[in-house]
Parts: sequence; structure tokens; C-alpha cells
Amino acid sequence: MCECCTEHQKDIYLPHLATVEDALLLNKTEMYLRLTMDDGAWDYRPGQFVEVSIAGIGEAPLTIASSPTFKGGLEIVVRRIGNVTNAMHGLRAGDKVGVRGPLGRGVYPVDEAKGRDIVFICGGLGLVPQRSFIRYVMDNRSDYGRVVILQGTRDMDQRFFEDELAAWAKGHDVAVIETLDKPDPRWKGNVGVVTTLISKLQVDMKSAILSICGPPVMYKFVLMALAEYSVPHEHIYLNLERKMKCGVGKCGHCQINHLYCCIDGPVFKYSDLAVVPEAI
Ligand SMILES: Cc1cc2nc3c(=O)[nH]c(=O)nc-3n(C[C@H](O)[C@H](O)[C@H](O)COP(=O)(O)OP(=O)(O)OC[C@H]3O[C@@H](n4cnc5c(N)ncnc54)[C@H](O)[C@@H]3O)c2cc1C
Ligand code: FES
Repeated sequence: MCECCTEHQKDIYLPHLATVEDALLLNKTEMYLRLTMDDGAWDYRPGQFVEVSIAGIGEAPLTIASSPTFKGGLEIVVRRIGNVTNAMHGLRAGDKVGVRGPLGRGVYPVDEAKGRDIVFICGGLGLVPQRSFIRYVMDNRSDYGRVVILQGTRDMDQRFFEDELAAWAKGHDVAVIETLDKPDPRWKGNVGVVTTLISKLQVDMKSAILSICGPPVMYKFVLMALAEYSVPHEHIYLNLERKMKCGVGKCGHCQINHLYCCIDGPVFKYSDLAVVPEAI
């Protein structure tokens, strides 16, 4: 449940109205939306998500892609996959949506990571949740050590936020390394899955914070690769996506043994999950 103000806690199922300020198609399947809340700006933390609804269609959990340091509203990125997300792709500036949240108590370790190197390992749409943390770090750059962003994308046409990745790469002590699963005549960079980039990391793997988000299949292979470098499990953060309904710990849809992804996550420390390996 939202902890930022009592107003939001009055009815956990009641959406708040928001206005679409910008709607921009990033590629064939990903739509960027910037929303402003009609009842005033919301506080949130990197890693939290919102339930966004369209009247008469339904509701979908979506990660907040913006950083709390951004004052232009809530940014989200929606992959077209079914009923609700299809309808969201039809949204235009000026349209209204419902928003519940911000949801999730398990968030990115913005304080614990201070003074340390951070490695972001992103697969496909996994860049979206990580972006909130990355942008927070970029806006508070002197508080953190070296930043390395690894981005793996299936093919050339699925890439998005290319300009932003390029801008981050120009930052002080920041490295961005991209790879595509498949070769493409237009692509001159690395080819192979994101785990092939891990050997290129120039950070002290035993002290760095590692933040991972991507499709379910990616976690197993990334964790196996990190095990070779003896990365302590308490330095690894995983953003897990599970099927969700209520988003507030009531329906049980997102249960991972004794944990609820919606209220205990969606960001988990790997050392907290080690007792529930089927979660990954
Ligand atoms: C915490 C959280 C954060 C998320 N953040 C984002 C985000 O930032 N951007 C984004 O595009 N999506 C995100 N998702 C996924 C998004 O919520 C689903 O894609 C959406 O709910 C699908 O709704 P729909 O009505 O369009 O599709 P439906 O018609 O419900 O489903 C279409 C197909 O997609 C499958 N599907 C539906 N939901 C999921 C899911 N969660 N995981 C895997 N398969 C699913 C269904 O089984 C079905 O095959 C997030 C999910 C969670 C739980
Ligand atoms: S989505 Fe209902 S308990 Fe998590």
C-alpha cells in the first residue's frame, strides 16, 4: 500500500485520475507515456509501480520509469501485449487514465548503493524499471561510484531509449555496453545474449551493487555468471515481475512462497530470495 500520504490510503482500490501529457511510440511494441496526476504530484521511490486503468477496458501493473528527481510527472513504458496494453497504445495527449499507487515496498537500494560502483544488467523491457534507479543515480552522480549499464535486446527493431543510453554513456565514469541477441547489418556492436557482456565488466564485483531486470529466463543465466565472480548475494537486487491483480497484498495472485511480489517486492535482494529458489 502506498505509504506516501494518508489520502492515497483511503481506498486502496480507487484509481486517481491522471492526464496523458505525452504519448510517443518508441518502436513497434513499446509506447512511452508521461502522465500528470490531476490531484497533484506524487512521491515515489525507484522500483515502485502503479496500476494504470482505462475506463471500460481494465487495469495493468506498470513500473514507474521516471526518477523521483524528475518533476514532470510519472513516466511509463507500455509493451503492447493484450487488451489493456493495446488500449494504452491508443492513448493520446489530453486523454484521462486511472492510476493506483505508488505500489510496492521492495525498492531499489538508492541509499545502500551510495559510494559504491553499480552494475545494471537489463534485458529488453527490463531497462524500464532500471531507468528509474539509473536516472536517480545520474541526477545525484557524485553520491555513487562507477556506473556500468549492460543492455541486451533481442533484435535491432526492439531497441528503445537509444538516445538516452548514448547520453548516459557520455557521463563521468559511466559505461554503457549494449548487445543484440541476433546479428543485423545495421548493428556494429556486440552480438550475443546479455550474459556475454559480464566478462567485459571493469568493476570490483565483490563490492559493487548489481541490479538485474529482464525476462524470467535471463535471471538464471545472469546469476550463474555472477556466481563465477563470487558476487555476494546481498549485493544483488532482482526486479521480479509476477502476474498481479490487486497490487496491494490482498488477492494472492503474485505470491512467491511466503512473499507477495506486489508488497514485498517487486525488487528483492537475492539473499532474501535464496530460501525460495523457485521465485527465479
Ligand atoms: C510489477 C509489474 C510491473 C510491470 N511493468 C511493466 C512495464 O513497465 N511495462 C510493460 O509493458 N509491462 C509491465 N508489466 C507487465 C504488464 O502488467 C502486462 O503486460 C499487462 O498487465 C498485460 O495486460 P493486457 O490486458 O494488455 O494483456 P492480457 O490480455 O492480460 O494478456 C496478454 C498475454 O500476456 C500474458 N501476460 C499478461 N500479463 C503478464 C505478465 N505480467 N507477465 C507475463 N505475461 C503476461 C498473458 O498470459 C497473455 O498471454 C509489469 C507487470 C508487473 C507485475
Ligand atoms: S497482486 Fe494481489 S496479492 Fe499481489
